[in-house]
Amino acid sequence: MTDRHISIDFIEYSSFDEMEPLDKELVEKAIDALKGSYSPYSRFKVGAALRLEDGTIVKGSNQENNAYPAGLCAERTAMFAAGANYPGVAFDTIAIVAFHEGRILADPATPCGVCRQVMAEYQTKGGKPLKVILAGAEKSYKFSKVDDLLPLIFDSI
Ligand code: THU
Repeated sequence: MTDRHISIDFIEYSSFDEMEPLDKELVEKAIDALKGSYSPYSRFKVGAALRLEDGTIVKGSNQENNAYPAGLCAERTAMFAAGANYPGVAFDTIAIVAFHEGRILADPATPCGVCRQVMAEYQTKGGKPLKVILAGAEKSYKFSKVDDLLPLIFDSI
């Protein structure tokens, strides 16, 4: 038996201004994407902006439904739109932000497990690390690859 340990590295920012210009721009696009959120049930808006390797930016927002499980998270809305409209173009960076009770959340919005799994598969498909920015009004995180948000990724088949 061996005890193992997994550690992850990520950057923490205290302001969007500390980010590289392209990352800050992507966060601004994610904030803009909040406008498209359809979230009458949770009243929790999530915006995502995905930069592809060719510089194209694809936005997504959470889309809810009266039949609750039919709704979709912002991240998957963006990733599936990109997968459908730009086949074969790898994903470079995704930025995510959440808005509730009149303001952007102070702490980073963290993607659900299903969205992490979908990120992982597109990262594998694209053949390069997918960077993830979790943006909050007072604190943001940047991960250099999906593995850091989803250790021991399932990709066995
Ligand atoms: N949501 C996202 O859009 N992304 C996540 O990673 C977590 C949750 C959405 C789903 C639902 O519309 C609302 O936030 C509340 O769960």
